[in-house]
Amino acid sequence: MRTISIVNQKGGCGKTTTTVNLAGALATDGFAVLVVDMDPQAHASMALGVDPEEVEENLYEVLVEPDASGRLDGVIVNASRGIDLAPAGIVLSALEQRLAAENQEARTERLAAALSSLGREYDFALIDCPPAVGLLTFNALRASEEVIIPLETSSFAIDGVQKLLETLALLMERVGHTLSVRVLPTLYDGRTRYARETLGEIRELFKDLCFDSVVRLNVKLREAAREGMPISLWAPNATGAADYASVAMEVAMGPPAEIEAGADAQVGAAREVVIEYRDSQANDVRIAGDFNGWVPDRGVLSHVEANGRTRVWVKVLKLPPGIYQYRYFVDGQWRVDPENEESSPGPMGQTNSVLYVR
Ligand SMILES: Nc1ncnc2c1ncn2[C@@H]1O[C@H](COP(=O)(O)OP(=O)(O)OP(=O)(O)O)[C@@H](O)[C@H]1O
Ligand SMILES: [Mg+2]
Repeated sequence: MRTISIVNQKGGCGKTTTTVNLAGALATDGFAVLVVDMDPQAHASMALGVDPEEVEENLYEVLVEPDASGRLDGVIVNASRGIDLAPAGIVLSALEQRLAAENQEARTERLAAALSSLGREYDFALIDCPPAVGLLTFNALRASEEVIIPLETSSFAIDGVQKLLETLALLMERVGHTLSVRVLPTLYDGRTRYARETLGEIRELFKDLCFDSVVRLNVKLREAAREGMPISLWAPNATGAADYASVAMEVAMGPPAEIEAGADAQVGAAREVVIEYRDSQANDVRIAGDFNGWVPDRGVLSHVEANGRTRVWVKVLKLPPGIYQYRYFVDGQWRVDPENEESSPGPMGQTNSVLYVR
């Protein structure tokens, strides 16, 4: 089973719409999908036609138990052909307080434990997260190998994404868990220049980590949610259905790391680029940039050398010719490269260092 969290702390960017309609498209392709609704607002449950007031038990009952093995099967309901749902309820908002006394480790592993003890088999579990990075989102991330970040292409979309990526990087570091992250442009209105420019910026910033598919603005998606079914069932000929079918196809091809391994051969022109960071105080230095989706040290060969008192972090990157933006992640803080005078205001307002590969 591939477990994918749909995450963004920004509200209204299309997380729930993506969860439900990606589930619909995957189910149409014959996959067995479990939708896990981790948002107390229970929008995904409603969009799948399940009234949270009517269900007897929801995820709260599972997550509140110290040993949840076997409990999850009991709350799962069938929503439509190929789609099962672990419903949410407003009580989920009380979970954080309820578990406050427990240690961080145990609190954040509840969902992972519950999913690993599932009695039924699914091809995909899609987890809809609330618009906040709290205990519920942490549980989702701990249980996932993959993350999809929907990004609205209409207003300050990219603000806050760097913060989210930093949070993901810290989480990965703390628990030694890797997440393969992809960004999905949503709510795209190609008629406006602003949306076209934002889409360009998103593609430039995230490169391969951005889906090729784009989800266009389509009122049928809103209607389908109101009707309580995925668009693949409500309006299979609508553009929204076509867009999510295309997202599903990309998802079914595998996580980006595997796709990249296959694509490596094509990047024959990639150069080996060596850059160094010198510091006598730092303990941990990583590099992140548009070449690795801003995930510190992802795909980078790294070693440390001593030069007297100074330690030198040597970073070896393989990059095709181009212009790249990057920063160092030094003991958990973002820094520009002190030895590089070339910098540029990044699309997210911060200053980035610039690397030319010829
Ligand atoms: N591509 C789209 N075209 C038209 N409407 C859309 C599209 N995507 C989402 N919407 C609508 O925008 C609103 C917000 O979307 P959605 O609920 O999926 O966002 P969210 O990120 O889950 O929000 P929250 O953070 O509150 O959970 C909903 O009314 C939804 O129906
Ligand atoms: Mg939502």
